[in-house]
Amino acid sequence: MEFGCVIIINSVLLLLVSYSDNHEIKIKDYSDLVSDIYLDSMQLISKSKYPVEKHFVTTEDGYVLTLFRIPGQGPPVLLVHGIGDSSDSWLVLGPSKSLAYRLADDHFDVWLFNSRGNKYSKKHINKISQKKYWDFSFEEMGSKDLPATIDYILSKTSQSKLSYVGFSQGTTIFFVLCSMRPSYNEKIKQAILLAPVATINNIQSPLIPFYANIYDKLTFLAEAGINEVFPSNVFVSTYHAKVCNLRSPLRFFCGLEYYLNFGLKELERLPDARLPIISSHIPAGGSAKTFLHFLQGYVLKSFRRYNYGVKKNKEVYNSSTPPVYNLSAVSAPVTLVVSESDWISTIKDAKLIQNNLKNVVRNIVINTTLDFTHLEFVYGERVNSVINDPILKFMKSL
Ligand SMILES: *[C@@H]1O[C@H](CO)[C@@H](O)[C@H](O)[C@H]1NC(C)=O
Ligand SMILES: *[C@@H]1O[C@H](CO)[C@@H](O)[C@H](O)[C@H]1NC(C)=O
Ligand SMILES: *[C@@H]1O[C@H](CO)[C@@H](O)[C@H](O)[C@H]1NC(C)=O
Repeated sequence: MEFGCVIIINSVLLLLVSYSDNHEIKIKDYSDLVSDIYLDSMQLISKSKYPVEKHFVTTEDGYVLTLFRIPGQGPPVLLVHGIGDSSDSWLVLGPSKSLAYRLADDHFDVWLFNSRGNKYSKKHINKISQKKYWDFSFEEMGSKDLPATIDYILSKTSQSKLSYVGFSQGTTIFFVLCSMRPSYNEKIKQAILLAPVATINNIQSPLIPFYANIYDKLTFLAEAGINEVFPSNVFVSTYHAKVCNLRSPLRFFCGLEYYLNFGLKELERLPDARLPIISSHIPAGGSAKTFLHFLQGYVLKSFRRYNYGVKKNKEVYNSSTPPVYNLSAVSAPVTLVVSESDWISTIKDAKLIQNNLKNVVRNIVINTTLDFTHLEFVYGERVNSVINDPILKFMKSL
């Protein structure tokens, strides 16, 4: 849901940026960063002088996913990005701060997931229509993309279990996986769930109630053929690279965008010099159905399968309402990391998750005094001290 808001605001801001361009407000000094702005995961990793591999995984329903790997001698760990995002999210802060590199430095065998529909995972083995291709939500990422990916990694590495680190939607699809395909609980050595999202009853982003109010219209648009939302494109990337640049006179707009979506009050909480690179790598594309499915969670106040309406629900689920995802079936050992200042993954909603899960081994709550917001779990200036260092310490102790 997060990046939908970004897009609406973007439309307005893009006009402003083109205005400023025409009126000779010079945007200086981002040429040095331009190289990184357009690099993909493979290139970012190579540029940082780490070994890198690219793998393709085909799901049972024919989607072809790209996995990146920083191979290591140690145990495998799978990093799973958030909504509208990609494997880039674990790399864009560079080797000193991004989790993928920090894990690689500690000899973990690091695998970076890309869900169906994002910029790296757009292929299908059959010639299917666009409408059919985009007919998926986070459910298929959890019930089909993750099993294929996990089995692929376990087979390549001859291991029976792997560690899982998910952020935001990367936790949602973990819950879907372990509840719909409970045998996968056995394949998870340990799951670290950053900013977990299942029910979003208490979400605080001011734009979500707005979207909920126009839910019927959005559904209509989706059914009328708007399949992909928030695609990655050079136009939006360049826009972000410009307004989020440290010396940009338009940086206020970058700040406004992050505040409205994530409650981020100070842009300085994301590393200054890397901000154009971070913001140019998101969004990375997703399906309209994923966005609607999250919105349904807010409207229906529960964590359920996709709601098609009574008639089609009966056909698909043999029930007029969609079944709930059974969080009690998640038996893999889980560490929850929640921040009191997160607008998206709120303490109240995380409590519901915690109460239902069978095997929460640790529950880390980031105190409100840190004012640690959603994006900071992956992109924050303080990511090492608040997130990465404790995670690494814990993972090495296993
Ligand atoms: C559908 O649900 C009804 C009532 O809950 C049950 O009796 C029936 O066996 C179900 N049908 C299928 C195909 O599962
Ligand atoms: C949910 O999963 C638990 C654990 O596997 C099981 O005992 C329970 O019956 C399930 N609940 C439903 C509604 O399927
Ligand atoms: C947060 O930290 C402050 C200062 O360390 C402390 O006074 C406060 O009780 C903490 N709040 C919670 C909810 O733990």
